Amino acid sequence: MTITVIDHPLAQSIITMLRDKRTGQIEFRKGLVRLGRLMGYEVAKSFPTREVEVETPLGVKTRGVTVDMGDVVIIQILRAAMPMVEGLLKVFPMARMGVISAKRREDTHERGSMEFEIEMNYVRIPRIQRDTTVMVVDPMLATGSTMIAALNTVKEKGEPRRMILINAIGTKQAIERVLRKYPQADIYLAAIDPEINENGYIIPGLGDAGDRAYGEA
Ligand code: URA
Repeated sequence: MTITVIDHPLAQSIITMLRDKRTGQIEFRKGLVRLGRLMGYEVAKSFPTREVEVETPLGVKTRGVTVDMGDVVIIQILRAAMPMVEGLLKVFPMARMGVISAKRREDTHERGSMEFEIEMNYVRIPRIQRDTTVMVVDPMLATGSTMIAALNTVKEKGEPRRMILINAIGTKQAIERVLRKYPQADIYLAAIDPEINENGYIIPGLGDAGDRAYGEA
């Protein structure tokens, strides 16, 4: 288990821009794409590297490194994760892709509770093997309800070698909740915010990530 908060100044400036209520839909979505890419570079640091020898066009042999990506499955939680996944795919272009359409049920939610019932309308996850690294992407890790439901679904498909969660903003409460159920998970975030409001929104947060990236639904 690791928790990595990405303090790269570019990641932090993107988070600031995303939080700003004046940021419009196009800039918001582009920001999430750039953040996904930056976070992908951070995640790639945790992959093993191997020394290799190559010959340059000048006929000279030189030593270098290659990153052993192995088998990667990226799972996006619709619809808010789509822009971050677009950025991540620049770093992991060979990844196989899964989608989970998940929605928190507001109608059964008790105000102030961390627990939401999760409605899943569509799940399509590629084969998961013992050597697969699974990345589950959701920009907002607010209560952990959606993430736990997604990880439960992943687990039904197979036991991956590694589970990596990629979130723009999370809360300590959600991180603790997810790690209680999935202590092996590695979590990457760009910020950990202090509060959740009674409707399950992160405070200060950035609002509804899906609505801001794609329009109010
Ligand atoms: N989902 C969002 O988009 N924003 C939050 O603050 C919480 C959940």
